Amino acid sequence: MNRKDEHISLAKAFHKEKSNDFDQLRFIHHSFSETALDEVDITTAFLGFSFKQPFYINAMTGGSKRAKDINQQIGIIAKETGIMTATGSVNAALKQPELADTYQIMRKENPNGIIFANIGAGLSLEEAKRAVELFHADGLQIHVNLPQELVMPEGDRDFHGWLDTIEEIVTSLGVPVIVKEVGFGMSSETIAQLLERGVQAVDVSGQGGTSFTQIENARRQKRELSFLNDWGQSTVISLLESQTFQKDCTILASGGVRQSLDIVKALSLGAKSVGIAGTILNQLMTHGLDETIMLIQQWENELKMLYTLLGKKTTAELVTTDIILSNEISHWCESRGISYQTFAKRSQY
Ligand SMILES: Cc1cc2nc3c(=O)[nH]c(=O)nc-3n(C[C@H](O)[C@H](O)[C@H](O)COP(=O)(O)O)c2cc1C
Repeated sequence: MNRKDEHISLAKAFHKEKSNDFDQLRFIHHSFSETALDEVDITTAFLGFSFKQPFYINAMTGGSKRAKDINQQIGIIAKETGIMTATGSVNAALKQPELADTYQIMRKENPNGIIFANIGAGLSLEEAKRAVELFHADGLQIHVNLPQELVMPEGDRDFHGWLDTIEEIVTSLGVPVIVKEVGFGMSSETIAQLLERGVQAVDVSGQGGTSFTQIENARRQKRELSFLNDWGQSTVISLLESQTFQKDCTILASGGVRQSLDIVKALSLGAKSVGIAGTILNQLMTHGLDETIMLIQQWENELKMLYTLLGKKTTAELVTTDIILSNEISHWCESRGISYQTFAKRSQY
């Protein structure tokens, strides 16, 4: 089976609504809101784009017949809802131009939407330009996926030069670039390195949802690296790690988002928008196109309700919500010297 098709099947098979670190953060309920549902504005803006909703469909597919069908459906969903989307890694189409249409279909269905192309770290500026030109992408995501490559039987084994190529691309590409993880999260050291190289937007994509070490282990004959299945920092921890960089850089979050409440939690920790992959793929494959559009619309309504409940009229105001973090997360913050009381009366339970 084609690798992308295997990833789709395994991501779907492993998808379940398990507990993750979003459950380790709680909002403090206050009885007075001084807000009304119709005063609430859930829009967001970053990298020069404005969005109707503070969440997006993250990079997943392309490169096979099945992936083309999924990209087509994501294109239709995006046109219907106005949501930002990204294709899966276009590395395959750069090597095999006959696969280009499996990505271009998303643009064909959604000619005026905001769509990001996606490539792996280590590719050249020239390849990045070709990726963007493939379907007139509005921006480029560059993914970093060291644990996945190491567990992937046919994965890369030499990781020199990733930061150099990222710097070359962000300096000269001419469209906005997001550097993203793929579900392993980011440390403050990683974000600092990216900022030094001129990166202006980062998707911390943390652990807690889709695990690409679990997926790659399932593709191995022997699953001897299954001890890496939970590798990485959760999305909540990655956002806490990002606190000091949030004024200099657009921080986006993804990884383990199961419901609208998780989106609001990520926004309250400073994400400008929140990406969803596994939950959308599962909804699409289990319930189909119409139900996926309905889920996005339902989340928009739930966000309005949650902003009202928290007494916040805009997405930007969410960073002033009062939150409580569990002992485990607080311990991480203390060990790493992270002040999680930056924005509001934030404490631990
Ligand atoms: C089937 C599948 C394929 C993916 N392919 C890519 C990819 O090509 N490039 C990429 O940057 N991330 C890829 N991802 C990772 C997601 O963009 C996201 O970072 C990760 O799945 C964590 O989010 P989640 O827990 O909501 O799934 C893929 C995810 C899934 C489920």
